[in-house]
Amino acid sequence: MENRYAVILAAGQGTRMKSKLYKVLHPILDRPMIQYVIEALKPTNVEQLVTVVGHGADEVKKAIHDEVDFVMQEEQLGTAHAVMQAEALLENKRGTTIVVCGDTPLITAETYQAIFDYHEEKGAKATILTTKVANPVGYGRIIRDETGHVEKIVEQKDANEAEQRINEINTGTYCFDNEALFAALKQVSNDNAQEEYYLTDVIEIMKNAGEIVTAYVTEDEDEIIGINDRVALATASNLMKRRINEIHLRNGVTLMDIENTYIGPDVTIDSDVTIYPGTILTGETHIGASSIIGPNTEIVDCHIGNNSLIRQSVVTNSKIGSNVNIGPFAHIRPETNIGDEVRVGNFVEVKKSTIDNRSKVSHLSYIGDAILGTNVNVGCGSITVNYDGKNKHETVIEDDSFIGCNTNLIAPVTVKKGSLIAAGSTINEDVPEDALAIARTPQVNKEGYAKKFK
Ligand code: UD1
Ligand code: CA
Repeated sequence: MENRYAVILAAGQGTRMKSKLYKVLHPILDRPMIQYVIEALKPTNVEQLVTVVGHGADEVKKAIHDEVDFVMQEEQLGTAHAVMQAEALLENKRGTTIVVCGDTPLITAETYQAIFDYHEEKGAKATILTTKVANPVGYGRIIRDETGHVEKIVEQKDANEAEQRINEINTGTYCFDNEALFAALKQVSNDNAQEEYYLTDVIEIMKNAGEIVTAYVTEDEDEIIGINDRVALATASNLMKRRINEIHLRNGVTLMDIENTYIGPDVTIDSDVTIYPGTILTGETHIGASSIIGPNTEIVDCHIGNNSLIRQSVVTNSKIGSNVNIGPFAHIRPETNIGDEVRVGNFVEVKKSTIDNRSKVSHLSYIGDAILGTNVNVGCGSITVNYDGKNKHETVIEDDSFIGCNTNLIAPVTVKKGSLIAAGSTINEDVPEDALAIARTPQVNKEGYAKKFK
């Protein structure tokens, strides 16, 4: 294996996206498309990765967290001109440079690896990743001689009728001998239909110099989709969704509806998990073994334990234990930590709170900025009054306490271990251990009054 380098072309404007968002930052299942390209290149062990940016350069730099070098292409004069911007960083390096587009997120690490290997094995100066497609319109065509050897690439707008009928196309991914690449780039002119400096001209330049130029043909037409508009984005999103979902299916996850389940690329799921339709799992989410998720559930950046059930709910940036039962229609907001065997029932909102093992908040409650111990039971309709209009305050409910229905806990307040709060109470003072607190107006029954009133 030679020294390997990569250049990602991402300076184009992406006008056909009709978007304020820079093209390569459009997300596919919550990851910017260019990040897929970077992830797929990583296993090929490239030593240096140079991204050519232009439009929206600052946003692209912010979005990419990996260690990559950026070079600026101020004016977009064509793909050869774009690669030239990496000259100062790469020119004199010995080895192989892969050039890829930032808008082809479906190309896999295996394909990148395969083209590198093929290129190095053939001792070629250039290897083009090509494929045969049903409709080649818009792509550069691969021109081969009678013996089948690659001669050159002709762009759509420069192709004659016979060339237009060729269905083997340039995917826009290439391996080059690095030094030969930068030498040939100096000879590229913009004498063509688009008056652009075409990277594709490097092929003919090398061929004419008697160098070995080859093509690695990939069978998978889906992989090479270049995203130029939102139709292609939708197609690519669907393909990526299916690809990710199939990985989970093979790992022993049941998806009730593979089309209607959206799982982000960084989500991990243990075996025997069942996912019902309409579920969206994104961010750094993990689902533990035998859990059941969905239908219509959204989970973002969460760690879910084993054998838990989460139905028709939204759960964000939280940790949920094992054997937990959440929903239907619960909202678990960020920084919540739920232990094992906890029940959070319908129409319950939990925010920035801890609910320890075996506690229950089963119906119609708001728990915010609270710490609940083990075995706590919060009755229907009870809420923590955590906000005084200026500041947030904490509620603590210690182990084995029982909060009667429709209780207001006006924070800051602590309910000590083993206490009992009468239904309908408004608690604004701490409750001692094992005490019964009643804080409501005593009932008065006035005999015969109802009859009189009517
Ligand atoms: C290019 C290829 C074509 C191939 C197709 C595959 C050339 C001349 N043609 O055409 O043979 O079939 O890709 O999708 O290379 N870019 C820059 N700076 C520029 C111009 C482009 O960074 O000055 C970037 C774009 O952001 C994009 C990539 O290069 O990521 C390809 O450019 P694009 O204009 O989309 O080329 P195509 O016309 O699709
Ligand atoms: Ca393109």
